[in-house]
Amino acid sequence: MRPKYLFLLALLLGAAAAGAVIGRGAAKPGIKMSEFGKMPDGQTIDLYTLNNSSGMQVAITNYGGRIVSLTVPDRNGKMDDIVLGFDDLAGYLGNNPYFGALIGRYANRIGGAEFTLDGKEYHLAANDGPNSLHGGLKGFDKVVWKAHEVPGAHPALELTYLSKDGEENYPGNLKVKVVYTLMGNNALQIDYSATTDKDTVLNLTNHSYFNLSGQGNGDILKTQMMINASQFTPVDANLIPTGEIRTVEGTPFDFRKVTAIGERINGDDEQLKLGKGYDHNFVLDRNGHGLQLAARAVDSDSGRVLEVLTTQPGIQLYTGNFLDGTIHGKGGKVYGHRSAFCLETQHFPDSPNKPKFPSTELKPGQTYHETTTFKFSIIH
Ligand code: BGC
Repeated sequence: MRPKYLFLLALLLGAAAAGAVIGRGAAKPGIKMSEFGKMPDGQTIDLYTLNNSSGMQVAITNYGGRIVSLTVPDRNGKMDDIVLGFDDLAGYLGNNPYFGALIGRYANRIGGAEFTLDGKEYHLAANDGPNSLHGGLKGFDKVVWKAHEVPGAHPALELTYLSKDGEENYPGNLKVKVVYTLMGNNALQIDYSATTDKDTVLNLTNHSYFNLSGQGNGDILKTQMMINASQFTPVDANLIPTGEIRTVEGTPFDFRKVTAIGERINGDDEQLKLGKGYDHNFVLDRNGHGLQLAARAVDSDSGRVLEVLTTQPGIQLYTGNFLDGTIHGKGGKVYGHRSAFCLETQHFPDSPNKPKFPSTELKPGQTYHETTTFKFSIIH
């Protein structure tokens, strides 16, 4: 064949191969940046959309490090966005229960909004009855992070933030770095690290609300849940752990055997009544250090499976008990009662006031490092 025809043939074959990839709904792995909106002071906020070669897509904004959308295939290859949220920044600036947010300095509750560290009392803003919840009045979910694309084999976005000494009344200049990496196997890995220049306490998590049938698509009561925990931390009327570490055996908190979220949620159980459903920290059954399976959620209708792996000692199962249909989210979808679940990997709530719980203290010279992976797959 003449070189000219060979060149044309190569072009045609190339186009066919590219067409095949695009036909399966996959984009080229990478990150695309677009404007997400403006802060009240005019500052532009961005949206970073990460794609892998299997068509999974995750969009993250540098406002509160929030996961805005997370699109994964069902068993027929149909893509759906499976996290609650808003179409633009304005939605996140309004009142909402931490949709997709990066939470800090202290994820979950600190009882009485105070703690003592090195003999000094720290008083926090009480933003949840008498408690401090999810970092206070302006936690990490409401600050603007610096964003950088990290070069490497997988699309990765690095967010950094300097939380100044005394911010929300926590001690120490805290340098925080969170890296979101979208793996080829439909896993979103979140790496958290931090250093401080004074003794402080720290508990970071992500607060995504999942509905494996698609965001705004009914409740999650049929979702089958497995949590790798033989114990949990029961709470008092303010949802603060009593300090007891209780076995799940014989209780509605036993998810070691896969059980639908809704099967026991309305049962006659004191702890479920206090939480208005599941809103509890599970003590993970861990074997040494490293990333280990914490929970698995399966939606039999769509075939979507979410596995949560973590280095953390605990996980909060929150079943959207306070969602009541007043929030209208992406595409105008109504977020009703229990229309999503959260699996927040964490240290135990109120640890700064519970000396028997694993410590959340961070000292100068130490580096906080935790990793959580949300891994998606399908069952047939
Ligand atoms: C808490 C819930 C709270 C929700 C939204 C969860 O982490 O455990 O009690 O309603 O966050 O703020």
